[in-house]
Amino acid sequence: MTSPSERAQAIRAAGYNTFLLRSEDVYIDLLTDSGTSAMSDYQWAGMMLGDEAYAGSRNFYHLQEAIQEYYGYRHVVPTHQGRGAEHILSKMLINPGDTVPGNMYFTTTRMHQELSGATFVDIIVPEAHDPRCELPFKGNVDLSALSNLIARVGAEHIPYISLAATVNMAGGQPVSMANARAVYDLAHQHGIPVMLDATRAVENAYFIQQREDGYAAKSVAQILKEFCSYTDGCTMSGKKDALVNIGGWLALNDQDLYEEASNLVVVYEGLHTYGGMAGRDMEAMARGIVESVGDEHIRARVGQVEYLGHKLIEADVPVVRPIGGHAVYLDAKAFYPHLDQEQFPAQALAAYLYEDCGVRAMERGIVSAGRDRETGENHHPALELVRLTIPRRVYTQAHMDLTAESVIDVYERRASAKGLKMVYEPRYLRFFQARFERL
Ligand code: F0G
Repeated sequence: MTSPSERAQAIRAAGYNTFLLRSEDVYIDLLTDSGTSAMSDYQWAGMMLGDEAYAGSRNFYHLQEAIQEYYGYRHVVPTHQGRGAEHILSKMLINPGDTVPGNMYFTTTRMHQELSGATFVDIIVPEAHDPRCELPFKGNVDLSALSNLIARVGAEHIPYISLAATVNMAGGQPVSMANARAVYDLAHQHGIPVMLDATRAVENAYFIQQREDGYAAKSVAQILKEFCSYTDGCTMSGKKDALVNIGGWLALNDQDLYEEASNLVVVYEGLHTYGGMAGRDMEAMARGIVESVGDEHIRARVGQVEYLGHKLIEADVPVVRPIGGHAVYLDAKAFYPHLDQEQFPAQALAAYLYEDCGVRAMERGIVSAGRDRETGENHHPALELVRLTIPRRVYTQAHMDLTAESVIDVYERRASAKGLKMVYEPRYLRFFQARFERL
């Protein structure tokens, strides 16, 4: 616990950017669910069985088997985390001038697509941009937007479709099985592969089980495998669903692409049987995959997120509806209607929340969206959000209660809130390191 004056000083010193706080100054850390989950006894036991051979570690083969069994892809290239896989995939498939359609951007994914010379085009259903709209599958692809885009730019200029499930920037919203199947059919009619961002695909499978006709009696593991069967490969940040502190992979069904990826990984990550991970990390991830698809685990995990979300809804705090799989997203535009988006309302709200009681959240709005590559102007995303992200197997309901009380407290004092101005802007992924001053 820190005092209010200590927190006011800490957030000022951090340039009003929660990424720049020291973790020891944070009381409840809801910055991210990435690498922050607790490993089980079974995973820790696996850490003791690390085979740290440079090549052909037995832990790699355990990992490969787990991915083949639960995700269903033929080939596996390990990477140090998700963006390592995104880098290799983008480098292999994108030619300068290409267009990559996706169901809403993700920061690192779009960055790698752009660095390879592509333009990202958002083809998510329009309802995803409305925080209040309640739809069971707000992460779905707008199929007519996709077919119009294919007609406009030509299938030969679309190297792949970037399908994320769940959709982080839309509020952790899922994609339905029917939509994934339809995207796959449409893409394959035009010879375009579908590449899944599988980072939170287990949470997505849980929502399908809960919400989609015909899936209530199926296990999350069965649903996950069927979902992946409508894609040609995936990038994965193992730091989320797979319950590890570090790790990721690129999975592919195509033999030639796999050979190219396993060659490229040697240049950027490490040999194709470790890809930037220690043997023990691969063992922990192989075991984490098995635990992650357990129906009881995933129900408890998403249930805790919903518990926090419904407390805030009961208090009339504006949040993205329905509540997502990994986080509750505060709607900063509705929270602070008196602040212009160029005054960074979500960034300001995350700072006030920290000052109130030491809860650390993250901006997901205009700062995260960055600038247009061509014009240099700020993107102005419809969603200006603060994400309260729940690590897996870490916090209790009491922590959720305290968080809800703090958010409600900040909401009651919303009229006096001030905006921010950006005083330092890094070139890439600015939200991580940008600095601000209070207006
Ligand atoms: N895709 C999604 C949907 C993600 O949420 C992330 C990371 C990545 C890819 C990149 O993976 O971090 O392992 O390189 N998201 C974290 C977050 C950082 O806080 O949402 P990575």
